Amino acid sequence: MLRVIRQYPAVLALCAQLGATLLIALVLYLAVQELPWRPTWLAVGLSQGLLAAGLARYIGLSRWWCGLNLLFVPALLLASGAPLPSWVFLSGFVLLLLLNWNSFGERVPLYLTGAGTRQHLAAVLKEQPEHFRFVDLGCGPAGMLLKLSMQFPKAQFVGVETAPLSFAIAWLRALRRPNCQIRYENLWRTDLAEFEVVYCFLSPAPMPEVWGKACAQMPADSLLISNTFEVPGQPAHQQVELNDWRKSRLLLWRMGG
Ligand SMILES: C[S@@+](CC[C@H](N)C(=O)[O-])C[C@H]1O[C@@H](n2cnc3c(N)ncnc32)[C@H](O)[C@@H]1O
Repeated sequence: MLRVIRQYPAVLALCAQLGATLLIALVLYLAVQELPWRPTWLAVGLSQGLLAAGLARYIGLSRWWCGLNLLFVPALLLASGAPLPSWVFLSGFVLLLLLNWNSFGERVPLYLTGAGTRQHLAAVLKEQPEHFRFVDLGCGPAGMLLKLSMQFPKAQFVGVETAPLSFAIAWLRALRRPNCQIRYENLWRTDLAEFEVVYCFLSPAPMPEVWGKACAQMPADSLLISNTFEVPGQPAHQQVELNDWRKSRLLLWRMGG
């Protein structure tokens, strides 16, 4: 069960949604046969949300999946009461899909490195020789990468990304930065031998494979940096705690080559 939760949390969250919807529909059906009482749709939605969140928690999903389960149907009902044309919903869905392309396959959604983390990362990079080459595996819209490329004009920055909209935004933004290149490339195809510093902010799911790839390809004395997510069984050589609301930390490994 634990393995299934780790691999397919979205499918389990969907099961919790369906289970809660069926139960609420059944209760509602029985209630309207026996009682004169008629709940509002929002009350029905909130009950469904509470039940879906409870079920999600019961089957061991993490808190943010419970939050999503809690809010999904109430938000849908609220939005369906608003006088919005249907294309708004379709556009919202497509937008989210194009940004979060890798959520299902790779189990890595889009969230961004914060400014505080970037400053600590910059402090680490200051200790590198000034012509270092840096890659961000899954660069998103490349905000962090561009800021670093301005701060370190002699270094070379590469971002690889496969979510179409994030890639397009990153690519356009990098056009004005001569030392920053964005590639539409799956990170598993990136040759890490080209870089002195490899940065990733992914999720716990791919970290064992990232470690295997780093060990196979990164040159001696190069630096692997993971924002927050550890490698099971491989304690970092250095750890920078950031004390922010996300409890972020930078984990650094000096590779053996
Ligand atoms: C958590 S975001 C981090 C964004 C950015 N690196 C930052 O720190 O602000 C992870 C990004 O990795 C991308 N990603 C996930 N799997 C990928 C893959 N196999 N190849 C390329 N990009 C990937 C996602 O689309 C997402 O934009």
